[in-house]
Amino acid sequence: MTEEKVAIVTGSSGGIGFETSMLLADNGFHTYATTRNLNKSEEIQEIASKKKIPLKTIQLDVNDDSSVKEAIETIVKENNRIDVLVNNAGYGLFGSLEELSIEEIREQFETNFFDVVRATKAVIPTMRKQGSGTIVNISSTGGRIGLVPFNTSYHASKFALEGFTESLRQELVEFGINIILIEPGTIGTNFMNNIRTAKNYNTDNSPYAKTIKRMFEGSVPIMANSSHPREVAQVILNVVNSSSPNVRYSAGKDAEVVLKKRSELSDREMEEWTRESWFDKKGFIRQ
Ligand SMILES: NC(=O)c1ccc[n+]([C@@H]2O[C@H](COP(=O)([O-])OP(=O)(O)OC[C@H]3O[C@@H](n4cnc5c(N)ncnc54)[C@H](OP(=O)(O)O)[C@@H]3O)[C@@H](O)[C@H]2O)c1
Repeated sequence: MTEEKVAIVTGSSGGIGFETSMLLADNGFHTYATTRNLNKSEEIQEIASKKKIPLKTIQLDVNDDSSVKEAIETIVKENNRIDVLVNNAGYGLFGSLEELSIEEIREQFETNFFDVVRATKAVIPTMRKQGSGTIVNISSTGGRIGLVPFNTSYHASKFALEGFTESLRQELVEFGINIILIEPGTIGTNFMNNIRTAKNYNTDNSPYAKTIKRMFEGSVPIMANSSHPREVAQVILNVVNSSSPNVRYSAGKDAEVVLKKRSELSDREMEEWTRESWFDKKGFIRQ
């Protein structure tokens, strides 16, 4: 059994999950870097072994009840404690609402919302009994603002995560369990490549094709200001090391700008600012 703090990170095959697992292990957390497909864990395991840091890879498919149960039982058996859970696994879903199917939208919620619920439910009994623990939910600036056109379901799933987190905090505070929201801005990961597009979308005859093309052109200055996923990992490390963390933290260069705008502007002004960011190619960070 380990004396070190035990951390679990979902979706560690790349991006924010990979960097968070590495940074937590680098800082002494006995870290379980989990992936749904263990073949994608080879790189992180190899680097961790070379660095001799306390990182283990384990298969955990957040979509699957029995996989989550089995992984958490193994971790508890090995350590008798869980100090940190980072609910990171997630993806984007792109498309007009008209062209998205209900199944595609349900799948989006299954991963971005219900998987967080499933993993969180699985660690609560251990954290409650030990009287401590931190659960970190990776939301997005898009969990506060419907910032990206043609991303209705992604935004809805992250807004749901924010409400879920705020309410659950009240439920678990008396057991010493902290639940925190991280709201990254544009982060340079495989997120964009992994975005799923509405199966019904066809550039040749979609009534939305022209607007979507304009939006993609407008994304260039936004992507140019993306931040490294290590910046998000650093915010998470600071949070789990804090004795009295806040409810939510922004992460990445543009996140702070966007959230500040949200607090300063009216709903209508914010909508206008967002449209200019995409369709007039002004980006989120303006000179
Ligand atoms: N990148 C950004 O700009 C940005 C901004 C705000 C918030 N976020 C949030 O940050 C989190 C991590 O994203 P990232 O940027 O690091 O993207 P990424 O590089 O695409 O990594 C996503 C991770 O989630 C896992 N995952 C995706 N869909 C899954 C599913 N259905 N079941 C199980 N695992 C799944 C992936 O596993 P596989 O390799 O097996 O697919 C991968 O490990 C997400 O929740 C995302 O919404 C990202």
